[in-house]
Amino acid sequence: MNTRSANKALLGALIIIAVLLGGLLVYGGYYLLGPGRGIVGNGGIFPGAGPTVDGNRLRLPELLEDLNPDPMAAEYVLRADEGEMTFFAGKTTKTFGYNGNYLGPLIRMRNGESVSIRVDNMLEDVTTIHWHGLEVNGDQDGGPHQGIAPGDSWKPTFTVAQPAATLWYHPHLKGTTADQVYMGLAGLIYIEDEVSDGLNLPKDYGVNDFPVIVQDRNFSPDGNFHHQTNMMGVVPGDTLLVNGTIEPFVEVNRGKVRLRLVDASNSENYSFTMSDGSSFLQVASDGGFLEAPVTRSRVFLAPGERAEVIVDFSQTEADTVSLMIGRFRVVEFRLSDRGPDTTEVPERLATLPEVDETVATEERRFEMEGMGISGTINGKYFHMNRIDEEVTLGNTEIWTVTTVGGGMMMQQGGHPFHIHGTQFRILTRNGKTPPPEERGFKDTVFVDIGEEVRLLVSFNHEGLFMFHCHILEHEDFGMMGQFVVRPESD
Ligand code: C2O
Ligand code: CU
Ligand code: CU
Repeated sequence: MNTRSANKALLGALIIIAVLLGGLLVYGGYYLLGPGRGIVGNGGIFPGAGPTVDGNRLRLPELLEDLNPDPMAAEYVLRADEGEMTFFAGKTTKTFGYNGNYLGPLIRMRNGESVSIRVDNMLEDVTTIHWHGLEVNGDQDGGPHQGIAPGDSWKPTFTVAQPAATLWYHPHLKGTTADQVYMGLAGLIYIEDEVSDGLNLPKDYGVNDFPVIVQDRNFSPDGNFHHQTNMMGVVPGDTLLVNGTIEPFVEVNRGKVRLRLVDASNSENYSFTMSDGSSFLQVASDGGFLEAPVTRSRVFLAPGERAEVIVDFSQTEADTVSLMIGRFRVVEFRLSDRGPDTTEVPERLATLPEVDETVATEERRFEMEGMGISGTINGKYFHMNRIDEEVTLGNTEIWTVTTVGGGMMMQQGGHPFHIHGTQFRILTRNGKTPPPEERGFKDTVFVDIGEEVRLLVSFNHEGLFMFHCHILEHEDFGMMGQFVVRPESD
């Protein structure tokens, strides 16, 4: 060993010792003083938040106005800006929002529609806006390469080419995604199509069809958000926000209600249940309807994932029932009789393309490894100038995703693996056919430590895309890679 590599080794050893000691301190302190983990998925404790201003009625994102009168074309304007919220009486919280103070408006799109959006950045920092789950070309995808400078605008245009689904949008700049989302930048996209038109599911926005955007937040004593991270990762919030509301309630008819559950937290997993032990009918996953509704008593979501469920209150005798995460109330439903419920959940929702892995032309492996606040995929940290995978346009591949523990103290839970610009199907989870709720279209899949999930992924859009862990701090600190999709002849 020459001196140079000996020095390097010594330095490496010192860094490892420092990291371990630091980790030990933070880890120990965390367990002694910090919120206890394990109650909410891998998450924290959400105490009663006390009085807030507007009686805690569930906030609903506004519907974004389409400025183009043509029914098959839409034109939207989104503006990212600073804002202020009063989550707690007498306290002001500095926030970010799209077209408002916190979160963003709901954008409704139709399959086949051409959409153009102008995104104005009124923030003091560079931002990007990524359409999570939308199948568009790389240059319209809003990833880390499409930064919008302060005062600038970005104008993506695309044609919607995918089935009805609940998607979302959020910033995606390398290094600041977690902070910008934490401040409030996120919103929903609903896609509708002939299938969703033809189903008589609850679909009256804010009446029997509700977004449930769940985010944990830490507040500092002055009322501002405190995005706290340590070497173990992000510190779970002390408060749960639902569409930007603390401990909300909503009044609904004693009938069927559709909930579009969205885990828009930076790092927390959630396991949803109903307070009276009743079950959900899950009708959709990330990328749209399942073939048939699935009865579930508990719905697990990792960051980035969505699920649409129908809750039927028609036989409920109590006047209030709540959607829960562990022992914490997410939304309280106040039931009253407001006329007959004419909606129905059919036995068959949609016909999905057959999952046929023999069409795959290539297999790739992705090994995720978490290291506290950061992590790697296939041993590599993200680099803006490195393309990790090259894919041929029009091809279908098998992507096998695994998670290994970070070893010793750095070991932590699983990771949600997300692929841009496509909706995939799960072939197997740990060698077995996935449960029915995982047989629909997905764009984000949770892979726990030691698990192996095989995905069938089609690449029908060209350009540069990201794949990454959707724990936003992990993504910011390097747990991301890039793939390029190119036509064969290139
Ligand atoms: Cu929800 Cu790469 O993002
Ligand atoms: Cu995405
Ligand atoms: Cu991760």
